[in-house]
Amino acid sequence: MLYSEKVMDHFQNPRNVGKIEDADGVGEVGNAKCGDIMKMYLKIDENQVITDCRFNTFGCGSAIATSSMATEMIKGKTVSEAMELSNQAVVEALDGLPAHKIHCSVLAEEAVKAAVKDYYDRNGISYDPKLFEKACGCEHCS
Ligand code: FES
Repeated sequence: MLYSEKVMDHFQNPRNVGKIEDADGVGEVGNAKCGDIMKMYLKIDENQVITDCRFNTFGCGSAIATSSMATEMIKGKTVSEAMELSNQAVVEALDGLPAHKIHCSVLAEEAVKAAVKDYYDRNGISYDPKLFEKACGCEHCS
């Protein structure tokens, strides 16, 4: 089978779809390879814990599934823990994606990072800009 059961589940019943009106960080990213876009909203408390997150995407099923899984994985984590979430970890949690769909998983990771960056910027929190360099090591994104 092309897609794992977990991918199909998260594609058909994506978690945390939508928008947070009073989000503490919002990130919008585009996928250079296919032109799909994603918006990620984070609600972050005073201890830098992500208490809620939602996403909207104009993307393919794999992008929806990885974003859905990524939001589940970062909820309850601190922003710095969320920064460590790699697209590989999300793909593993979904029991894999077909090789030609791996680039779709990058959208979720980048959207989370962009939202954290927005949160840092809004709150005047300093950070190492290297954290926000393109994380994906795939041949399309270098
Ligand atoms: Fe664009 Fe999957 S084809 S994110």
